[in-house]
Amino acid sequence: MARTPFELKGKTVFVAGHRGMVGSALARRLSRENVELKTVRRSEVDLRDQAAVFDWFAKTRPQVVFLAAAKVGGIVANNTLRGEFLYENLVIAANVIHAAHVNGAEKLMFLGSSCIYPKLAPQPLREDAMLTGPLEPTNEPYAIAKIAGIKMVEAYRSQYGCDFINVMPTNLYGPGDNYHPEFSHVVAALIRRFHEAKVSGASNVVVWGTGTPRREFLYVDDLADACIHLMKTYSDEELVNIGTGEDITIAEFARVVAKTVGYTGGISFDPSRPDGTPRKWLDVSRLAKLGWRASTSLEDGIRLAYQAYLREQKQAAE
Ligand SMILES: NC(=O)c1ccc[n+]([C@@H]2O[C@H](COP(=O)([O-])OP(=O)(O)OC[C@H]3O[C@@H](n4cnc5c(N)ncnc54)[C@H](OP(=O)(O)O)[C@@H]3O)[C@@H](O)[C@H]2O)c1
Repeated sequence: MARTPFELKGKTVFVAGHRGMVGSALARRLSRENVELKTVRRSEVDLRDQAAVFDWFAKTRPQVVFLAAAKVGGIVANNTLRGEFLYENLVIAANVIHAAHVNGAEKLMFLGSSCIYPKLAPQPLREDAMLTGPLEPTNEPYAIAKIAGIKMVEAYRSQYGCDFINVMPTNLYGPGDNYHPEFSHVVAALIRRFHEAKVSGASNVVVWGTGTPRREFLYVDDLADACIHLMKTYSDEELVNIGTGEDITIAEFARVVAKTVGYTGGISFDPSRPDGTPRKWLDVSRLAKLGWRASTSLEDGIRLAYQAYLREQKQAAE
C-alpha cells in the first residue's frame, strides 16, 4: 500500500463520470496538477458493462482513479427509480473498483454520500455513524449501493492491500448540475424555479416540503479541491466527510437563492412533498485535522452556480 504524501504529478488519472457535476469539477481541478487525464464517454464504455470496463482498464491501466460516476438524483428520483438506483450504483462500483485492483491502480477514491448515514444519527454526522441505524427510506436503495461500494473499498484495502479510500461529500451544487424539473437536487431545483418565476413575473414560488429540514451545501469546486488534497495526503480505511460544517434550513436557503437570482415574489411551502431526513449536517473535524477547509461562502457559491446555470441554459438553446 502506498504511503502519503501520494505523488499525483506525472500519473495517468481516470475520472469516472467526467461529464457529471463532480467529475467535471475534478477534471477542472486536475488540469492544475500536471497529470495525464483519462476519460471515457458512456457511449464508448458503459460502466454497468463488466466486460467493457475490464477491457478498458486492461488497455488504459490508469494509475489513479476517482470514482465519480453514479446514478444520482434528488428525492423523487431516488424514491421512484429505486431499482435503478440500487442496481446501477452497485454494478458501477463493483466493476470499477475490481477493475482498478486487477489492473494495478496505485490509488482509488470512491465518492459516497452523506445519505449513507442513518436517518436519526446524532448530529453532526460522524464517520463512525455508518451502519448504526435505519436509513432514510426515500433514498435507501441508493445508500445501500453506496455502502456496498464503501465496504468493497475497505475489503480491498484489507485483503489485497489496495490504497483505496472513501470520501463522503455533503450536498453539492455548482456548474454542471442537473436542472431536471422533477429529478434534480434541491439547489438546482430552486435556482431553476426562482429564475423561471423571475422571468415570467410569477408572484409566488412553491418550495417542496415544509422548509424546516436543515441541509449543508458545498460548492462543487471546493469538493474537487478537497478530493485532490485527500488523494495526496490521506491513506486509511476510515471514511472522510467532506462538507462546510455549517447547515441551514431549506426555508432560509430558499431565500438566499431567491435573492441571488433576483426573484422578489413570495415563497410558500408544499408539505405534501417529502422532506427527507430532518437534518444532514456533517462532522468535518477529521477533514479539518487533515488540513482542509471549504473556502467558498454559500452566497458566493450560489452566485457562481447561478451564473453557470445561465451559461448552460444559453449553450443548450444554441
Ligand atoms: N450531487 C451531489 O449533491 C452529491 C452529493 C454527495 C455525493 N455525490 C456523489 O458524487 C458522484 C457524482 O455525482 P454528480 O452529482 O456529479 O452526478 P452527475 O452529475 O449525475 O454525474 C454522474 C456521472 O456518472 C456518469 N454515469 C452514470 N451512469 C453511468 C454509466 N452506466 N456508465 C458511464 N457513466 C455513467 C454520468 O454519465 P453521463 O454524463 O453519460 O450521464 C455522469 O457523467 C456520485 O458518486 C454521487 O454519489 C454527489
